[in-house]
Amino acid sequence: MSSKEVAVIGTGYVGLTTGVGLASLGHNVVCADIDPEKVDMLTRGEMPIYEEGLEELLGKALDDGSIRFVLGAEKAVPDAEFVFMCLPTPQDDDGSANLRYVYAAASEIAPHLESDSIVINKSTVPVGTAKATTELIGRDDVAVVSNPEFLREGSAVRDFFSPARIVIGAPALEIGERVAELYGSMDAPIQVTSPESAELIKYAANAFLATKLSFANSIAVLADKVGADALSVLHGLGTDERVGPYFLSPGPGWGGSCFPKDTRALLHIAETNGYHFEMVNAAIAANRDQLFHVTNMIANAVGGRLFDKNIGVLGLAFKKGTDDVRDSPAEAIIRRLIDGGAHVRVYDPVAQSDEFDMTDDPYEVAADADAVVVLTEWDEFGELDLDLLRSRMKGDGLVDGRYIIDPDAARTAGFHYRAIGRY
Ligand code: UGA
Repeated sequence: MSSKEVAVIGTGYVGLTTGVGLASLGHNVVCADIDPEKVDMLTRGEMPIYEEGLEELLGKALDDGSIRFVLGAEKAVPDAEFVFMCLPTPQDDDGSANLRYVYAAASEIAPHLESDSIVINKSTVPVGTAKATTELIGRDDVAVVSNPEFLREGSAVRDFFSPARIVIGAPALEIGERVAELYGSMDAPIQVTSPESAELIKYAANAFLATKLSFANSIAVLADKVGADALSVLHGLGTDERVGPYFLSPGPGWGGSCFPKDTRALLHIAETNGYHFEMVNAAIAANRDQLFHVTNMIANAVGGRLFDKNIGVLGLAFKKGTDDVRDSPAEAIIRRLIDGGAHVRVYDPVAQSDEFDMTDDPYEVAADADAVVVLTEWDEFGELDLDLLRSRMKGDGLVDGRYIIDPDAARTAGFHYRAIGRY
């Protein structure tokens, strides 16, 4: 595979992983950001985010000169054959994705783009954005392609190098094939399709996974009501290969920077095109309900009333492997507990917050606590010394919102163990 000249606009979690990943594949990458501090940090090899394995790869790419960082999009594009747009698409009040950063960058780079270069949109954007960007750039010698990212926070590096598939939405097959060459050394199916289809694949993928999770969470709630074991039921469901075992772990709900935003955006896209997408609507509603079910279980664990109760929370991040707390179900539940009058102390191995009473020792959350609650599935919570945890507490409540503590071990340590649909 020949080495290509690549520019990446935006060094957030997607841009940085893409830039570092492409540099590791042997391309020459220039990454641009508007934040001078970030550009300096990254040039020194320091990471603005926590993402396993990324810092090491960045260090290697800096050492061998295959990546560099510049201030401003305009400086990144001269000489680039491929320009990746990895910009934020924040949510507007109506649920739609706001494209001001994407369009501002496109206008900025338009006059500086190399002839015959390809602009590639990695951000999650409404259907029709590639076409609108093509019009905005307004150059016959530049094509715009949609190449949605499917990286997960916490395993972004692994996902970059071993993708399930690579989707390229191009205005013409030969354009798509040129983009596919960038990933030539990877062992992954490449699907070249239209820009509109690629843009919709991204939303369909996230909304489908969110719906699958809402279904799993709803089954857990029902299992609880009928006296069935939620994990056993979901295992039995997932062994049918048409369903698959992945993304069926029940929990306090799905959060993060993608599922909540993308499900709402898909609803908005559907509504504006005259279609009411009830299934996605229901998945969102079930996710909201899940916060209520878990909060209720915690209230029951402290005698039915939260007021003046001490509750220790293990986990703040929206999932393990990241310090990201955007739309974290843990945060939403903690706020409900505090609103109900409880005193809440929180431990997370990585995530931090000024809003809550945080401690850097997991056993500290148990001090004088009426109940301890697990809200993020960090592996270390499954390895806690339960006798020590229990000995620090005033009460005996243990609510496992992530199903990672062994119920028998918890009972042996003297806990009253609770998890939705687990006995
Ligand atoms: C998600 C998608 O999985 C990626 O494919 C996609 O690229 C990304 O959004 C994006 O659009 O950028 P991410 O938000 O990093 O990735 O997190 P996930 O691992 O998908 O988890 C989402 C939420 O579902 C978390 O709150 C997690 O705890 C929850 N979850 C996940 C469960 O409760 N149970 C599971 O079995 C899996």
